[in-house]
Amino acid sequence: MTGTIKFKIDGEWVEASPGMTILEAALANGIYIPHLCFSDVTEPFGGCRLCLVESEGRLVTACENPAEEGMNIVSESGRINRIRRNTVSLIITNHSRDCLTCRKSGDCKLQEVASYLDVSEDDLERLRMDLKDVPPDDSNPFFIRDHDKCVLCGICVRVCEYVGAEAIDFAYRGHDTKIAAFLDRDIMDSPCVSCGECVEACPVGALSPRTEKPSSEVKTVCPYCGAGCEIHLGVRGG
Ligand code: FES
Repeated sequence: MTGTIKFKIDGEWVEASPGMTILEAALANGIYIPHLCFSDVTEPFGGCRLCLVESEGRLVTACENPAEEGMNIVSESGRINRIRRNTVSLIITNHSRDCLTCRKSGDCKLQEVASYLDVSEDDLERLRMDLKDVPPDDSNPFFIRDHDKCVLCGICVRVCEYVGAEAIDFAYRGHDTKIAAFLDRDIMDSPCVSCGECVEACPVGALSPRTEKPSSEVKTVCPYCGAGCEIHLGVRGG
């Protein structure tokens, strides 16, 4: 297929190359659509549901659906953002409050979407849940997996498949869901080749290289971290 696809996002004409998804086209045209499980190195997964947009009145995931000539996409509405805010709040509510010392602070996709959606203390309080309290997997000499910071986006699983190791997958269900090696063994007791691609691709601080020092930036998505700075809350960004 050749040529350029033209379609509208929130009333503005945008252009896309054939094969691009709605999300890829939006980002290429400087339009931010919240997303967490999208990675440009793997196939779309459609897991986080944060990239929901409206197409002809239907809610569809922007990361999975192709851009099509003449389509009319609504990326922002009260309905859409209410759903997104609930989804992000559910993720944050049992997420580690460790933003102050997290290496990804300031470069964290969860902070980005929480800030964009103005997730409030009330949103979090309503849904508050316990942390999973699963011990980190520190069996690998090069990186550590902190389950309390994992948002279950599955990017590490898909990257691991992509490099051919297939060492990890989703394990358990519901609140107990986590990313783990087969039979929940330590990562070093799996086909992991320690390539580090999963660490590089992780959009939050769940996977950290052992050598890296924590960030000294003071940014947080939550109002419970103790410092009370709330520097990201209420700051609408793109
Ligand atoms: Fe589309 Fe997660 S980015 S569902």
